[in-house]
Amino acid sequence: MTQLPLTLVTGAGRGIGAAIAMRLARAGAPVICAARSLEACTEVADAIVADGGHAYPAHLDVTDPDNIRAGLVDALGDARAHGPILWLVNNAGIAETAPFLRHGRASGVDIYDKHMRVNFHGARRMIEEFAPAMLEAKRGRIVNIASSAGLQGYPYAAAYVASKHALVGYSRSAARELAKSGVTLNLVCPHYVESPMTDGTVTRIVEKTAKTPEETRAFLAAQNPGGTLISPEEVAEVVWRFASGQENGVIAELLGGKGRVPDAETVRFYEA
Ligand SMILES: NC(=O)c1ccc[n+]([C@@H]2O[C@H](COP(=O)([O-])OP(=O)(O)OC[C@H]3O[C@@H](n4cnc5c(N)ncnc54)[C@H](OP(=O)(O)O)[C@@H]3O)[C@@H](O)[C@H]2O)c1
Repeated sequence: MTQLPLTLVTGAGRGIGAAIAMRLARAGAPVICAARSLEACTEVADAIVADGGHAYPAHLDVTDPDNIRAGLVDALGDARAHGPILWLVNNAGIAETAPFLRHGRASGVDIYDKHMRVNFHGARRMIEEFAPAMLEAKRGRIVNIASSAGLQGYPYAAAYVASKHALVGYSRSAARELAKSGVTLNLVCPHYVESPMTDGTVTRIVEKTAKTPEETRAFLAAQNPGGTLISPEEVAEVVWRFASGQENGVIAELLGGKGRVPDAETVRFYEA
């Protein structure tokens, strides 16, 4: 098997990030599983190793530039044997809901700032940290997990939507600059996915409405163009396609509609 490069997946402690880490490791990539919860990342890395892969858990807070360097880069340890990080999956993200006029100033936390710090600046900072080595090597893969919220609006999610639009806009420009560099940058934009993040959305809707959890889940599934929630494995499959292929500046919009493996009915690909 061809040696795949050292790969970093942010937000790999659960949900979509864990599925991505497992998929890329199964293909043969040594994977650093990073998030704030080292314990969760260790569980995912242990599962990969038990499955015969190479994985390294790491503590990472993408909002903290010092942590990216001191906490992650300087703590790579055994993972360094695989060479520089040449594949980067920016998956870490947060999603909270609030009416668009409520910033949360009363609580001292501006919800817009909070989302931008993780969902946009976090990904942007990771790219600034790792893209130079990729450019020097003239090969690298960057996959940004944005969202359908980077392509359209959702009520009560203005902060999330704004941060994902920022990530999509930044990525569109960066991909054009990267053309012919050997480094590709692509975007994955899923509609609602079965994950702990969506579980949180269900809980919040149940608290605020008369809907049951089952009704709420069915309501969210019905928002997806394909009519079902997307599996984390399907997202991971699209990431593998971008990591292993040559495409650059492409948006993969995951629509839902069954399937653990993406096909023409469940994923739409277009130029970013
Ligand atoms: N679920 C959906 O319906 C959906 C749809 C479209 C796009 N997405 C996007 O897909 C990505 C993954 O979503 P998910 O559904 O898997 O969410 P999730 O279950 O809530 O997992 C989010 C991951 O991000 C990590 N994270 C959060 N803040 C972080 C920070 N400051 N630094 C480092 N890691 C951080 C979390 O770990 P710690 O808390 O331990 O740090 C966790 O591992 C997100 O970018 C999300 O916006 C999700």
